[in-house]
Amino acid sequence: MANLKNPIITLPFDSFQANASATQQQSYIEHLEHGGVLFLPNLGFNLLPDEQRFLSPDWSDGKAKNIYLRGNERSIRGAQGSPNDLTAMSQLIERYALSAKQLIQHLLPSYADFAKPANTSLRSIEAEGRKTSWRKDDSRLHADSFPSKPTHGERILRVFTNVNPDNKPRVWKIGEPFSDMVAKFIQKVPRYSKTQSKLMYLLGITKTMRGEYDHTMLHLHDLAKADLDYQLNAPQMTFEFPANSSWIVYSDQVLHAVLSGQYMMEQTLHLPQKKLAYPESSPQQLIAKILKRTIHS
Ligand code: SIN
Ligand code: FE
Repeated sequence: MANLKNPIITLPFDSFQANASATQQQSYIEHLEHGGVLFLPNLGFNLLPDEQRFLSPDWSDGKAKNIYLRGNERSIRGAQGSPNDLTAMSQLIERYALSAKQLIQHLLPSYADFAKPANTSLRSIEAEGRKTSWRKDDSRLHADSFPSKPTHGERILRVFTNVNPDNKPRVWKIGEPFSDMVAKFIQKVPRYSKTQSKLMYLLGITKTMRGEYDHTMLHLHDLAKADLDYQLNAPQMTFEFPANSSWIVYSDQVLHAVLSGQYMMEQTLHLPQKKLAYPESSPQQLIAKILKRTIHS
């Protein structure tokens, strides 16, 4: 396994209302948009005494991977419990959504007005040894792309906090720069078909019609996960995110995999291409550069 230059920078803040200077804010944007990770080892998220009980896999409905609130819909999904329990779980997840929003406002204020909140989740299932198909197996290196949810070029920005009460880290692998992965697999991506995308939309397989960008991203996701030689031998590093730490990544760009860990909170945000400070470093533009042609959203 080849080694990798460390893509992680460490930020000192211990509050979601982090007091970052304008220079720091600019450097964070630059780092993130070039495929870096912002790591906040001192930023934990406090659960109230009555919420500690939700740190158990028993609240999962056994079907969904996470307990979550979807975008601005505020009814809880993936959970089971009495109406009171479900309300209390919603409130916990809602409070994390608010904290993540504050963190974006303070660290990345140029995104704040444009970052659209998508899912907010509590991940209570131990990540190690989770049984799934290879395509859903997040212990394999991948850049995020979801079959039913085309982004049309919008970016997937994620805030994570390890809330493990027993000091257990969340262990990730972080892979090579996005372009290096693209160069290895792009020739194997089948040609985009608008007719097929229309059909998938009409059949309800996708929520909106999948464009060429999402088609390409999804195939890159699958090609990387399916290639065991790539999984073993591509440049990568292991990193442990300790309990009571947070981190921020563009998960559609940073090659990542989760090896182990339990109890994490996560906020997904979607950012329009137009609002990037370095659009030339976005997956869409990096793929276009390698193919020497435009990739349509
Ligand atoms: C992923 O986005 O691949 C999962 C990350 C995690 O659950 O730690
Ligand atoms: Fe992922």
